[in-house]
Formats: sequence, C-alpha cells, structure tokens
Amino acid sequence: MLVRIPKAIDAATLASLRQGLADAGSDWVDGRATAGRQGAAVKHNLQIAENSETAQRLGDLVLAAFERHALFISAALPNHVYPPLFNRYDGGMAFGQHIDNAVRLLPGTARKLRTDLSLTVFLSDPDRYDGGELLIEDRYGAQSVKLPAGDAVLYPASSLHRVTPVTRGQRLASFFWVQSLVADDGQRTVLFDLDQAIQRLVATGGDAAAVTALTGSYHNLLRMWSHP
Ligand code: NI
Repeated sequence: MLVRIPKAIDAATLASLRQGLADAGSDWVDGRATAGRQGAAVKHNLQIAENSETAQRLGDLVLAAFERHALFISAALPNHVYPPLFNRYDGGMAFGQHIDNAVRLLPGTARKLRTDLSLTVFLSDPDRYDGGELLIEDRYGAQSVKLPAGDAVLYPASSLHRVTPVTRGQRLASFFWVQSLVADDGQRTVLFDLDQAIQRLVATGGDAAAVTALTGSYHNLLRMWSHP
C-alpha cells in the first residue's frame, strides 16, 4: 500500500531543513555509506553523514512533524523508527533498482530494527529539477512518485524501487524506515482502511453504536496482529 501524506512538513520547517542542508558542507558524503552490497552497486547520490550533528538536528525536525501526524500513525502504526537520513541528487545522479535491507542496526546501539516501511519526504519543489522520480513497484506495476516539497510517501520497504536520474537542478529529500507494530502489509492495510472508514463515520455523524462496534473490531484486530 502506497500512502501519500500531503503537507507533512510545514513551510517554516521546510525552510529550516533546506538551510541546514545548504550549510552542511563536508557532512555531505557518498550515499553508498548506508547501502547494502546490491544497493551500493547502483547508488549514486550524496547523503548527510549519519552520525553528524546536522543529521541529528535536522532528523529531529523531520520526526517532530510525523510523531503526532494522524494519517502517518494510522497508515504506519509505528513501533520504532530509524533516524531520518537526507539525500541529494545533483545532475546525473540516480539510484538504480534495489530493495532496502530488511534489518538494520540502529546507529550507536546494539538494537536492530526491521524495516517494514519506508517514508520519503520531498524537500525540493518539483519544478526545480527534472527527473528524480521515485519509482516504486507494487502489485499493480511501477508507481511514479514526484511530490510537492513537504509532501511524503509511505510505502512497503519490501518493494523494489529506484530514483530516476536527475537531468536538471537538484533533488533534496529525507527518508526514514519504520518498524511497524504490524509487520504484514496486508494486515496493516486492512487496519488502515478500517480506521479511515471509522474516522469518516465519526466526522459525518454516523450511528454511534455502530462506530463503537467498529472501533472495538479495529482494536481487537490490532491486538491480534500487533507485536510491540
Ligand atoms: Ni531504497
């Protein structure tokens, strides 16, 4: 399931992120630093060094935008998140077809995180660069994603995906992985659809007893399927 999260980052935060990335200087390193063997062979971009003060400071701004975001929480059911990374594609850069590593060590710890979901938030306005589409394979084929600055897309980390070459301008983005309370994408999709329908019923003044019953079913499914 691909979920678009419009206006996830507000204009003021977006400006702070762009300024921080413009000032990052030598914190920009070869993107292959965090790629697995297959990914490294096709990855050609720049990335903010994971352990840098820049990555931590800007990453906190990104996480603050999502940690109370209702649509993100409904769709991702986050348990743990990997600290956000920041990448940059200048002219000619691209990231070929790959799949993200299933398990990652959380930086600076001995704890592991299972990457159930990936979230990419676009930081450059789409008219500032050509190319740079995020192509995500799902069961219906390749979905092409290129969103306004501040919008995000959440997608299963089990998907093959790539970033097409940037042929003009510069593409800035942030992304992070989520270990969900519900590992299975199909189960998570059922819960998301049910939750969204309940929210609509509440917003439109649906029958209160029916809303209560459906809310109960939602939580009982979540209890059955979640693994905190
Ligand atoms: Ni990837």
